[in-house]
Amino acid sequence: MIIGIESIGIYTARYVIDLGVLADARGVDPAKYYVGLGQEMMSIAPLNEDVVTLGANAARLALEKVAAREAIGTVIFATETGVDQSKAAGIYLHNLLGLGCNCRVVELKQACYSSTAALQFAAALVARQPEHKVLVVAADIARYGLGTAGEPTQGCGAVAMVVSSEPKLVELEPHSGMYTEDLMDFWRPNYREEALVDGKLSARMYISVLEKAFEDYRSRSGVEFKDIDEFCYHLPFTRMAEKAHARLARKFGGVVLRPEEAVAQIGHSLDYNRIIGNSYTAALYIGLASLLDNNEDDLAGRRIGFYSYGSGCVGEYFSGRIMEGYGEWLHTEHHREALAGRVNIGIEEYERLYREKLPTDGSEFITPKHRVGCYSLVGICDHKRIYESVGE
Ligand code: COA
Repeated sequence: MIIGIESIGIYTARYVIDLGVLADARGVDPAKYYVGLGQEMMSIAPLNEDVVTLGANAARLALEKVAAREAIGTVIFATETGVDQSKAAGIYLHNLLGLGCNCRVVELKQACYSSTAALQFAAALVARQPEHKVLVVAADIARYGLGTAGEPTQGCGAVAMVVSSEPKLVELEPHSGMYTEDLMDFWRPNYREEALVDGKLSARMYISVLEKAFEDYRSRSGVEFKDIDEFCYHLPFTRMAEKAHARLARKFGGVVLRPEEAVAQIGHSLDYNRIIGNSYTAALYIGLASLLDNNEDDLAGRRIGFYSYGSGCVGEYFSGRIMEGYGEWLHTEHHREALAGRVNIGIEEYERLYREKLPTDGSEFITPKHRVGCYSLVGICDHKRIYESVGE
């Protein structure tokens, strides 16, 4: 039996700001963001879009070509932008998508890493019950303070993947390399809306954990750097992945890559992130969708190495093989339409949207009606979030 990713759908928010506009407003050379961070734009969510609506839009797409939708027996929702301390965001999504009641739903958290835990747990469930399909959803809204160093590395997005014993896109290989260490490089206490981050430490740890997780992966799997054809990295910003790839190539492949060579090797996995920004748990797998959608070569049979990093910190390196005929199962046009359909905003609108907040005392509130995808957060009533399907 093989187990892997049967389908993938991605989604991002309604608005987008060009990082050149942000740079001008902050008195920064735009090249710092465009070249130094490797980012061009970041998606901005209005109040009526949250991780539930972003995730539901991605999942709607992921489920479109999936046979036997009733076989979805588990929904795992990975996020660090949880909407409730108790109730899983996935239950709202499960309802919006009209999934069957004989289904387990749970939410997972460990910074940007939990989507990978979700994928591995899903594969284990399918190994136990091969007729079972698992819907893995990862969605986040990355927020740092206005005017902080982290501000240009915001963004938001969602990815949904169906994991099953009928993978049409990627067969997951069984070996993983793992690394965990108690570290304060990025965290968000319950009383804060913006994360606290030691950005330089997080960037150093991203690379050092990559080396440790890869070492564990190669010793468990026997797979060497030279045996990997394509690479997907967690993407807080694209320059981070380019640097990490150059380090991996040097340390484990004995190859010294010039920056443009590193970009060429991982290039298409970066395309979507460069114009979406960081989407925390979703970023690595939006990178996978980007690689599959945008690479003009037939990638069938090629091995992909995945590096997942979540501050705090946990890292995992694992791999998969791209399936024959994967191209016909992709949603490339929908993905491109969602990205191209975003509305460009200026600095005043961005700051206004940033400052808009839901009430924190549970009082009745109707969210402003921004045109969004198929699902919208209508408001809050009696401390309860109200969602609706709105069509496109
Ligand atoms: N033209 C081209 N490049 C420029 C530049 C210019 N005018 N000005 C600066 N740069 C380069 C810098 O040299 C640096 O590249 P390098 O690291 O290869 O030397 C890059 O742009 C970023 O500049 P830096 O001064 O390091 O940025 P910063 O301190 O303002 O913030 C982060 C960068 C990533 C630390 C910050 O955005 C952050 O904290 N983000 C959130 C945390 C995060 O994403 N962590 C990643 C791991 S999970």
